[in-house]
Amino acid sequence: MTLARQWLLNDHPRGRPIEDNDLKLVETRLNAPAPGQMLLRTLYLGFDPAQKGWMENVADYVAPMAIGDVMRGSAILEVIESNGGRFPVGELVAGTSVWSDYVVHDGEGLTLCEPELPPTAMLSILGTTGMTAWCGLFKIGKPVPGDVVLVSGAAGATGSIVGQLAKIAGCKVIGIAGGAEKCAWLCEEAGYDHAIDYKAGPIRSQIKELAPGGVNVIFDNVGGKILNDMLGQIATHARVVICGGISRYETGTLPAGPENYFNLVFRRATMTGFIVIDWNAEFPAIRKRMVSLINEGRLAYREDIQQGFEAAPATLQRLFSGANRGKQLLKL
Ligand SMILES: NC(=O)c1ccc[n+]([C@@H]2O[C@H](COP(=O)([O-])OP(=O)(O)OC[C@H]3O[C@@H](n4cnc5c(N)ncnc54)[C@H](OP(=O)(O)O)[C@@H]3O)[C@@H](O)[C@H]2O)c1
Repeated sequence: MTLARQWLLNDHPRGRPIEDNDLKLVETRLNAPAPGQMLLRTLYLGFDPAQKGWMENVADYVAPMAIGDVMRGSAILEVIESNGGRFPVGELVAGTSVWSDYVVHDGEGLTLCEPELPPTAMLSILGTTGMTAWCGLFKIGKPVPGDVVLVSGAAGATGSIVGQLAKIAGCKVIGIAGGAEKCAWLCEEAGYDHAIDYKAGPIRSQIKELAPGGVNVIFDNVGGKILNDMLGQIATHARVVICGGISRYETGTLPAGPENYFNLVFRRATMTGFIVIDWNAEFPAIRKRMVSLINEGRLAYREDIQQGFEAAPATLQRLFSGANRGKQLLKL
């Protein structure tokens, strides 16, 4: 038997920020792996704003979470014991797991880590984050050379990859992020042509100035007022990609529809939401392409690695305060 430390859901943070007692740290004895199962040791956890929605049960694309469930999240895990399980002892695997330092697992939904990059890449650029950037941009945004691409949440894990992919596709890329430091990073390191600091004042006139002919592709991670301001400057036949809406994840109500939505009619534009898991089958091929771009020095990624299993709830909260610099991870 293995003694595991686990974070359990203790309350649903509906309509409010996550609080300290929404998650509870406990110790649990795990049974030895049954035939076909493995004992895995969690090395890293990955964090996504959507986890707050899972805690609240607002998302219907994942199973609901009950009080007392072990918190769900992505992880890198090492196989330390196998009872005829899918992966051999010593392998590193990645995928959806739980906040537990040891896990008994049948391997369903887990993937071997890509050997050409450090394992954490499987939670960032080669994980859901990178796949979200790629699929949202190319399958819905469909950029063509010369397009203007405008990204909100641009300095985040997803947004910073979207900008680089759009540059590779030959576009002019404008990012919106919070604070001068993040905006400087966008232009100096992440390959963005321009950055707009939404915390420094109104952004609508700046978008107009930087994209006088209109924006062809919007990749929105934020929603609310920022989405409304972006919709005010779309070009004819623009594609508006709705990836996320973090500005409303801590409020109780869904936002009112953006006032500028009627621009979709005037500009014959489309606005499309997506959930990246719908393209699961294509992830291995997209990963291969991403690895080539990274090895050629054309695509970079940034990870923000916090330390210690006890810090898991505080690490999740960093996404909502904007403290994270790149993909938010935690090393156990
Ligand atoms: N559709 C899908 O399948 C899918 C899959 C994965 C992720 N997503 C979505 O993608 C988005 C980005 O996720 P990520 O993992 O890459 O996180 P991230 O962008 O690395 O981190 C979140 C960032 O959001 C910004 N933010 C927080 N509160 C905000 C607010 N009230 N207004 C404006 N900006 C705010 C902060 O940056 P600033 O300092 O710039 O404010 C923060 O650093 C999220 O909305 C997530 O839900 C969607």
